[in-house]
Amino acid sequence: MTTRIIGTGSSLPRQTVTNEDLSKIMDTSDEWISSRTGIRERHLAKEETTASLSVEAAGKALQNAGVLAEEVDLLIVATITGDYVTPSTACEVQAGLGASRAVAFDINAACSGFMFALHTAHAYLQTGIYRTALVVGAETLSKIMDWNDRSTCVLFGDGAGAAVVRAFGEDGMEKGGSENGFGGLLAFEQGSDGLRGKVLACEGRRNNNPLVQNPLVPSYVGMDGQEVYKFAVSTVPASILRVLDRAGVDAGEVKYFVLHQANIRIIQSVAKRLRADVGKFPLSLDHCGNVSAASVPILLDEMNQKGMLEKGDKIVMSGFGGGLTWASAVIEW
Ligand code: ACO
Repeated sequence: MTTRIIGTGSSLPRQTVTNEDLSKIMDTSDEWISSRTGIRERHLAKEETTASLSVEAAGKALQNAGVLAEEVDLLIVATITGDYVTPSTACEVQAGLGASRAVAFDINAACSGFMFALHTAHAYLQTGIYRTALVVGAETLSKIMDWNDRSTCVLFGDGAGAAVVRAFGEDGMEKGGSENGFGGLLAFEQGSDGLRGKVLACEGRRNNNPLVQNPLVPSYVGMDGQEVYKFAVSTVPASILRVLDRAGVDAGEVKYFVLHQANIRIIQSVAKRLRADVGKFPLSLDHCGNVSAASVPILLDEMNQKGMLEKGDKIVMSGFGGGLTWASAVIEW
């Protein structure tokens, strides 16, 4: 039995904000941002919400897969920027899509979130509990940025990406049905290091009750950029090598490395450490910025829409970020 991605979708807010636009409202420049990160513009939400972006991305993924909302058994949204503490974004998406049969819940693993959600769906599918899952990564990070902190706010953007995943039998045939999908998950590996969590953090509400008063002050993303950089360039290549080993796939066989889009320098460094051609690392960060949990599925959908993915292609996907967390997978498309 294997888990296959049978459809993808994505959604970006209508409004784009270029580095040049930002340089008019803060002390920064296109040169500083693009030379250090590769980011040229990002989409920022005005009327869009994490749920509305998720619904649009998920609806497109279902359409791409030829699957009806009522067929979805499991709906997982990875996000750190849900519109409500409760209900979960996944429950909002369930309502928005009419996915009435689905069990819906959120996962918080920051920039690794989509990969954690994909692995969770895979586990449910492999054990036979569910057959069809919808996995979404979605963020409106702009609402947790301090727009007076130029060292963080220029890096991030808003958006959502989604994938429909389904359990298939050993022979590649859908259980009890025809072969209408492709792409098998060959291996997975993931990890967490809570001891280093504070290098990338955004505090929630503090205790506020009859025993202790804390005024309600908004908190924003804070980051030790250099520590995050060191974490990423050491952990991601090691994770990718482990998952390739687990899948029995040589790095040279991989057509694309679909990495979390944090920073071009991180991606270049990972490519170098893997001795892989950097041309095998497609990018969306130039026009999306860092969209945390949405980065990997947005990029995957862009590749799918462009026809870059062919049956049998070996693809590595890898997410890394807050927690600290990381997760990598090898899939055969
Ligand atoms: N525009 C202009 N100048 C800036 C800006 C800005 N937007 N932001 C910071 N600066 C200034 C700083 O004030 C500092 O000035 P100073 O030397 O006068 O004090 C100078 O630029 C250098 O600042 P650093 O923080 O040391 O810049 P650095 O070269 O480390 O680059 C960056 C920062 C790009 C964030 C880098 O640390 C990095 O790539 N980190 C990786 C982490 C990352 O990408 N995080 C994204 C989110 S986490 C994730 O998704 C995994």
